[in-house]
Amino acid sequence: VKAAVVTDAGKPPVYSDFKEPVAGDGECLIRVSAAALTQLTRGRASGTHYSSSGTFPFIAGVDGTGVLEDDVRVYFFIPEAPFGSMAERTVAKEAHCIALPEGLDDVTAAAIANPGMSSWPALTERAHLAKGETVLVNGATGTAGRLAVQIAKYLGAGRVIAAGRNAAVLQSLSALGADTTISLVQDRDTLEKQFRELFAGRVDVVLDYLWGESAQSILTSAAKAAPEGIPIRFVQIGSISGSTIALDGAILRSSSIEMLGSGIGSVPLPHLVSAIDGVFKATVASGFKIETEAVPLSALEDYWAANASGDRIVFTTGLGL
Ligand SMILES: NC(=O)c1ccc[n+]([C@@H]2O[C@H](COP(=O)([O-])OP(=O)(O)OC[C@H]3O[C@@H](n4cnc5c(N)ncnc54)[C@H](OP(=O)(O)O)[C@@H]3O)[C@@H](O)[C@H]2O)c1
Repeated sequence: VKAAVVTDAGKPPVYSDFKEPVAGDGECLIRVSAAALTQLTRGRASGTHYSSSGTFPFIAGVDGTGVLEDDVRVYFFIPEAPFGSMAERTVAKEAHCIALPEGLDDVTAAAIANPGMSSWPALTERAHLAKGETVLVNGATGTAGRLAVQIAKYLGAGRVIAAGRNAAVLQSLSALGADTTISLVQDRDTLEKQFRELFAGRVDVVLDYLWGESAQSILTSAAKAAPEGIPIRFVQIGSISGSTIALDGAILRSSSIEMLGSGIGSVPLPHLVSAIDGVFKATVASGFKIETEAVPLSALEDYWAANASGDRIVFTTGLGL
């Protein structure tokens, strides 16, 4: 098959030939239609993600959409190594294939699954969001953050606060449901003053895509200003601005902050599957917005290193239904 082949650690994939996949017991052969270029795909391909396997060569791509041999349209994830989703054909466990609802096209489904599943289980089974609660999305300008704003509202948040550094995108978030926006591009004292005012007025859940300095400011401000005894569920989802923070023990002693994470490992796989299914159905029902750019898989090398903050790039094979 033609595929995005990773030959060595740290090397970007190249569009080349790879052996043909064969389905074993309990597995499905999939004619791939679309596969999105996500942070997870990049991280696993370069060997830096915590779930990378370290065996070469392999085909890049952790998920995608396509068609089974009986022409059922599916979303699939974690194909059987060394096969990946960025190929004309691949193989995945039957349990890793979810039938796509009518009304959801292959490119949108491929694009929305990963960023959608970053906030859906974080809100439902990690933070147990209750109707009317306030959600702060830290790092709301990326693909996953923009969806988190929409998904929080869809799942019942009464108020959504969006924090981010990209001024133009931040401004556009009110159209997606953000009630308040906070620019992260200001000096630390001014930013923490704003966060303290927000927490004094009550924030119930934080979805954190950034970690690093802004997460530290949020935690410090919450500990200082939040009303006593009201649990703030802080859910760590991405660490795009730094993998570690300095956490003063007093922050946890002096507040009701609950530190949680959401992702592969902290949410059991079957629950991630139902979260993705929930995102798909809600996308059809409520029209979540996600900007995509579909490009042929053969042009892989032109797009692999593209700036992440634009539309979500989706590689297509032209082999869907
Ligand atoms: N745990 C999970 O289940 C899960 C699932 C999906 C994604 N994630 C993680 O979530 C994060 C976001 O993913 P994504 O798909 O939304 O990525 P993305 O579309 O590439 O967006 C990343 C965004 O982060 C912003 N950013 C980068 N550095 C920043 C900084 N120092 N301060 C503020 N904003 C900054 C960029 O904004 P600019 O426009 O300003 O450049 C960009 O919009 C990644 O870390 C990803 O691995 C986790």
